[in-house]
Amino acid sequence: MSTTKITVNTNGSLKIEGEIELVDKKGTPYNLGGREVISVCRCGLSKNKPFCDGSHKGHFEHDAIAFDLPPKKQA
Ligand code: FES
Repeated sequence: MSTTKITVNTNGSLKIEGEIELVDKKGTPYNLGGREVISVCRCGLSKNKPFCDGSHKGHFEHDAIAFDLPPKKQA
């Protein structure tokens, strides 16, 4: 099984590397043109959503530092 790595960039996008299947709300896949690395917008400013177009620069602040989530609640 291959691994997909998602990097939360400080003040910017989510960088996704590896085997990627990106689909819309209906499950229709985006044609990534053979790319194995994409950047997905998380600031909401891109004019090419869901992809990052660089619009976040100077307009989005988030210091990306990993932390632990609390344990998942049992059903
Ligand atoms: S994260 Fe880059 S345009 Fe939104």
